[in-house]
Amino acid sequence: MHKKTIVVVGASRGIGCEMVKLFAKNSDNEIIALSRNHEKMALNFQGLKNVRCYAFDLSKSVFTQAQAIFSNLNSIDILVNNAGKLVNKAFTDLSHEDIQLCYQVNVIGVMETVQAALPKMLTTNGHIVNISSMGGFQGSVKFAGLSAYSTSKAAVCSFTELFSEEYKDAPISMNCLCLGAAQTEMLDEAFPGYQAPVSAEKMAEFIVDFSLNANQWIKGKILPISLSTP
Ligand SMILES: NC(=O)c1ccc[n+]([C@@H]2O[C@H](COP(=O)([O-])OP(=O)(O)OC[C@H]3O[C@@H](n4cnc5c(N)ncnc54)[C@H](OP(=O)(O)O)[C@@H]3O)[C@@H](O)[C@H]2O)c1
Repeated sequence: MHKKTIVVVGASRGIGCEMVKLFAKNSDNEIIALSRNHEKMALNFQGLKNVRCYAFDLSKSVFTQAQAIFSNLNSIDILVNNAGKLVNKAFTDLSHEDIQLCYQVNVIGVMETVQAALPKMLTTNGHIVNISSMGGFQGSVKFAGLSAYSTSKAAVCSFTELFSEEYKDAPISMNCLCLGAAQTEMLDEAFPGYQAPVSAEKMAEFIVDFSLNANQWIKGKILPISLSTP
């Protein structure tokens, strides 16, 4: 089978960290783990010979950083845009910086990462998986305090559809997964004490399988991944 090069953005903790470990179980995969915390990733993935870690910050010069990292790769098969910034504040308490950072990390960062990865993915029939949230899924239950975060996640959904229209005839797929609650540090920080029905590892299992296989059947779709309705 063709060796796969897989980029996971937001790999230092939570769902992204679990994803890297699962992808790495197949020694044919080469995994590129990205986040701001190189030291933590190096510790998490020590002993995994097929994982390479790079410091990467979605809050600034994203295209330039991503292009420099991707220039070390011949091609990219899978890109999972998993990093996320959550701010939980009443609407009138949100500062300009709060709103700007959510949009920079969750939207602009994703779009610029994709711009940099694209030339390396068109040769592999690549699959881009954007990680959004149920909060950004149209018609879902909404939560007070998440107007910056959830609107930015809705923008990622919309980007998925717009990109997919523009690249509908190209050998590349993009899909968007709107996750329900999973037990991670992000969830603990935003909603202390809340118990999610799904662990980070279980959620990662689903995303890994989806990233490896679903583009055979699905392109340009926004899918809710949640145990609750709506
Ligand atoms: N957990 C949930 O219940 C839930 C629900 C719906 C959607 N989601 C989405 O699922 C994804 C993963 O969530 P999680 O709960 O695993 O989050 P997490 O535990 O907070 O992990 C987020 C990851 O993103 C990275 N990151 C944050 N800011 C970054 C930046 N400026 N540049 C580069 N990397 C950055 C973090 O690494 P560094 O800090 O080292 O940079 C970390 O590795 C996120 O997109 C989140 O919005 C989660």
